[in-house]
Amino acid sequence: MFKRSYIKINDIINVNNNYTVCGWVHIFRKQKNIIFIDLNDGSTPECLSIVIDSVKIKDFDDIKSRVKKGSSLRVEGVVIFNESRCCNEMIAKNIIIYGEVDAAKYPISKNKMSLETIRENPHLRIRTLMISSIMRIRDTLAQATHKYFSNIGCRYVNTPILTTNDCEGAGETFTITSQYPTNKDDKPIYYGSDKKELLGRGVNLTVSGQLHGETYAAGLGDIYTFGPTFRAENSNTNKHLCEFWMIEPELSFINFKELQDLAEDYVKYCISQVIMYNEDDLYFLEKRNEDLVFRLKEIVCEDFARVTYTEVIDILNNCDKEFEQKVEWGDDLSTEHERYLAEEHFKKPTFVKDYPTKIKSFYMKTNEDENTVQATDLLVPGIGELIGGSMREEDYDKLCSRMTKTQRKELNWYLDLRRYGTTPHGGFGLGFERLVQLVTGTHNIRDVIPYPRYPKHCTF
Ligand code: 4AD
Ligand code: MG
Repeated sequence: MFKRSYIKINDIINVNNNYTVCGWVHIFRKQKNIIFIDLNDGSTPECLSIVIDSVKIKDFDDIKSRVKKGSSLRVEGVVIFNESRCCNEMIAKNIIIYGEVDAAKYPISKNKMSLETIRENPHLRIRTLMISSIMRIRDTLAQATHKYFSNIGCRYVNTPILTTNDCEGAGETFTITSQYPTNKDDKPIYYGSDKKELLGRGVNLTVSGQLHGETYAAGLGDIYTFGPTFRAENSNTNKHLCEFWMIEPELSFINFKELQDLAEDYVKYCISQVIMYNEDDLYFLEKRNEDLVFRLKEIVCEDFARVTYTEVIDILNNCDKEFEQKVEWGDDLSTEHERYLAEEHFKKPTFVKDYPTKIKSFYMKTNEDENTVQATDLLVPGIGELIGGSMREEDYDKLCSRMTKTQRKELNWYLDLRRYGTTPHGGFGLGFERLVQLVTGTHNIRDVIPYPRYPKHCTF
C-alpha cells in the first residue's frame, strides 16, 4: 500500500512521538533565539505550531532570515502537548525550506483578507484557511453523493458534455465550433457552416444531462449523473455561474411523493456526512457564520415543508412583506419570494410543487387539472432554489403536444423512450455549488468552486 514519507497534520494523534510534516507557513513570529510557526498542510484548518529553538537547530539564522508567510517546509521533530496553550506543538529538530516567498509580492500575504480580494487570485486562494475549509467540505459532499446514490442502487452514468439538445429549452446554451479560419488579424471567425464542422454541425455545451440520463434510466432502472453544466445566462448574482456542477438522479417506476422523499433524504444525508467528517472545518467557518452547525443539524432533523405553488401565491399575496416584484398565479417566483418562503415563512427547506404548466419545461408530467405539472423546486434559506425536478411525461401523445415541431424532430430519439416500453419516472437536478453554499454558509457562489466562470470572468 502507498505510504508517504511524512504525516498529514490531521493524522497526528499521539504526542511524544517523532514525526515529519510538510506544509506552508501560515503565521510566524520571530524572536531573538526562537521562531514560532503555524504550519498548515491542507488536511485540516488547524495549523501545527512549530517551535524552532536556536539551541536545537544548527541553521537557525539562515532559517530565520528566509522563512516567510507562504514558504513551504519539511519539518522533523517531536510533538508534545503544550499545557499552557492547550494544544499540540512540534519541537523542531530538522528543517528543509523547499520554496521561499517574496513577501512584498505574495498576493495573499496578509492574515485577514476579504473573500472578494482573494477571489482575484483563484490559483493561490486555496492557501487561505477559509477557502481550504470550503473545498474540503465540497469534497465530502461529492464523496457523499456517490455513496448515497450507490447505497440506494443508482448507477453512475456519464452523460455527454457536447450535445445538440437544449434540455431546458431556455436558449441559454454555449455553442462551440471547431472552425478557426484565420483572417489578417489571426482572429477566429465562426462561419456557421455545418459542412466544415468536425462534428458535422455546431454543437452546444450541455445545460443538463437529464434527457440522456432518462435514456439510461430506461434500461438500468435507476441512475444518477454528476457532471459539469454550462449556461450562457447573463446573471450576475451570488447564486449563478456559467459553469457549475449538477447532480441529476433519474429513477424509473417512482411517483411524485417518492421523488420528493428522495431529494429530502439525499440532502439530509449529505449534510450529516459533513457534520460527521468536517467538524473542525464547520467550527472554523462558524466563526464568520453564527449558529451554522445548529442550523445544519436542524435541517437534518426536521421534515422539509411541502406546499403547492397555488398555496404559495396565496401566502405571498397575504403576507406583510413588501416584495420588489408582485406575483400572480402563473408568474415565476423570483429569488426574493423563494427566500421569504424558506427563511421567514416556513423557516426550513421547502418543496414547492405543482407549478403552472406554462412556466415549466416541456418534459414535465401534466397533472389531471391540465394547468399544472408534477414539478417541484426545493427552496432553502439563504439561497432560494437548490433543486429543480419533476415527474416526466411518459405518455407519447401528451409529450408530443407539449413539444414544438423542431423539438419533435430534433428529439425524435427521446420520443422513442415513450414509443417503446414507457415508464412512470422522475428525477431532479441539484446545483452542487448551491449545496456547498448552504452547508458552508457561503454568501457568494463564486467562492465555493475552484475556478468560477461568470459574466466577463474566465481567469486562467
Ligand atoms: O432547475 P434546473 O434548470 O433543472 C434542470 O436542469 C433539470 N433538467 C434537472 C433535472 O430534472 N434533471 O437546474 C437544476 C439546478 C437548480 O435548481 C440550481 O440549483 C442549479 O441547477 N442551477 C445553477 N447553479 C448555478 N448556476 C446556474 N446558472 C444554475 N442554473 C441552475
Ligand atoms: Mg429550476
